[in-house]
Amino acid sequence: MSRSPMIVRTIPALRRAIDGISSKGVTTALVPTMGALHDGHLSLVRLAKRRAAKVIVSIFVNPTQFAPTEDFGSYPRTWNADLALLAAENVDLIWNPDVKTMYPDGFATKILTEGPAKVGLEDRFRPDFFTGVSTAVGKLFTQCRPDFAIFGEKDFQQLRVVTQMARDLDLGVKVIGSRTVRERDGLAMSSRNVYLSEAERRAAPELYRAMKESAKRLRAGDDIKAAMAAGAALAVAAGFTLDYFEVRHAETLRPIAAVKDGPMRILVAAKIGTTRLIDNVSV
Ligand code: PAF
Repeated sequence: MSRSPMIVRTIPALRRAIDGISSKGVTTALVPTMGALHDGHLSLVRLAKRRAAKVIVSIFVNPTQFAPTEDFGSYPRTWNADLALLAAENVDLIWNPDVKTMYPDGFATKILTEGPAKVGLEDRFRPDFFTGVSTAVGKLFTQCRPDFAIFGEKDFQQLRVVTQMARDLDLGVKVIGSRTVRERDGLAMSSRNVYLSEAERRAAPELYRAMKESAKRLRAGDDIKAAMAAGAALAVAAGFTLDYFEVRHAETLRPIAAVKDGPMRILVAAKIGTTRLIDNVSV
């Protein structure tokens, strides 16, 4: 049986709700989202339920992480469907602030992250992205005061950046990464997959296959350059234009010179048509 989550849209109402939960002394987990929920998000919610007694999901399309040329205006917004999905998961609270609530007039504070936020991956192509994410997530953490926060491994650099931020700022939140959920053909689930045309959707899983090819070669002891070039060539042959297709140290995200310098993670961002996909696999 599903029950309706409490929906909160103002800071005073959120404070009352969070005070109510913490007075009961139970653990809470936050799943930060921008809505347009799919099975990948639901797997984060299910992990949150295993870790904590109460689950909060935030739905906020955060304007500060979009560049002016990006899709803030057209980002899918599917409130009714999201609400039905979260009710079916028995989520306790949905935090759904509007832009003015998150960034009131005169708002003038940013969280500038370095370390994994400055390694020449997403940050090279979206220079303000992690400042926008970190500022929004930092606020979500202080507003909701969760014990745990669950993020998908699909946005692997984001996961590393928010983990570092929570630790550096002593936010008292344990950040937990959750495995990427894939369609049956291997495409990583993403709210932006709805942008793909039929032909692009058919080609899209090749990105995953390309990463797996490089991972297989690295595991077999191939030299890094050759292994990555083989995977990148497969992605390009499938119609992708690559922003990056790289193997990095899985913790620091810094470049690695040799396989023995691992653990390794292959990270990729690539465009098919006008849609930019990001994905990653462990090696
Ligand atoms: O991954 C996302 O959906 C967003 O970047 C996040 C973490 C909700 C911050 O706006």
